[in-house]
Amino acid sequence: YKRITVKTLVDMKANGEKISMLTAYDYTMAKIVDGAGVDVILVGDSASNVMAGHETTLPITLDQMIYHASSVIRAIDRALIVVDLPFGTYQSDPKEALRSAIRIMKESGAHAVKVEGGKEIKDSIKRILNAGIPVMGHLGLTPQSIYKFGTYTVRAKEEQEALDLIENAKMLERVGCFAIVLEKIPAKLAKQVAENVSIPIIGIGAGNGVDGQVLVLHDMLGMTHEFNPRFLRRYMNLYEDMTNAISQYVDDVKSLDFPNETEQY
Ligand code: KIV
Ligand code: NA
Repeated sequence: YKRITVKTLVDMKANGEKISMLTAYDYTMAKIVDGAGVDVILVGDSASNVMAGHETTLPITLDQMIYHASSVIRAIDRALIVVDLPFGTYQSDPKEALRSAIRIMKESGAHAVKVEGGKEIKDSIKRILNAGIPVMGHLGLTPQSIYKFGTYTVRAKEEQEALDLIENAKMLERVGCFAIVLEKIPAKLAKQVAENVSIPIIGIGAGNGVDGQVLVLHDMLGMTHEFNPRFLRRYMNLYEDMTNAISQYVDDVKSLDFPNETEQY
């Protein structure tokens, strides 16, 4: 596929081709992620944690998300760019939700937005979709509701929560979402959802029976090291590699090793 669209993703599911998705928040990293062939780049509100150092995703603002998204957009040739609507910009009323989504689309050039939740935000989702803006859903562990859950543990282990999640996934498909992220739920339930909707299900901590996977870039590269959920596979240990490189630089400056004869004018 030359350029990924929301249509491409639905076709990929129909053809049984798995979808790769990673987060990015800035130009330089997005350029690498896009060049490596990742299908979907999520400008996640995890920027609140990863970029800004907040404990939760709640504090990040719409302006800050637009700044990250526009930086990412300038880097990409192929990937579909999805941007999280941050907490407080779409839950209170559908008109505000649409205004927030329009700001993201106009001011960053992104291709789609993502929102957390099910039937509580159905009217907001419909309003955004009616304006021609593609919407990705997000169910299961939804970090913007962390103070309601109390913990970041696995969601939908109990029957009622599992049934509600299936209902919400079907509703998101029915109203016209192009894909759904399922975060930290039992693999069996995620597989069941993926088999019962025709739109792609992208999992994070949701097992192998779904249509694609997403991870936070800085986690999978091992730049962060305090966060160790079972679902996180680290492909590098950049925390250690970067620490070693930077302390080597400090030593070289102190010892006058850097710059040498060939590194000066
Ligand atoms: O903000 C984010 O990074 C996300 C993914 C974990 C799905 O929403
Ligand atoms: Na998010």
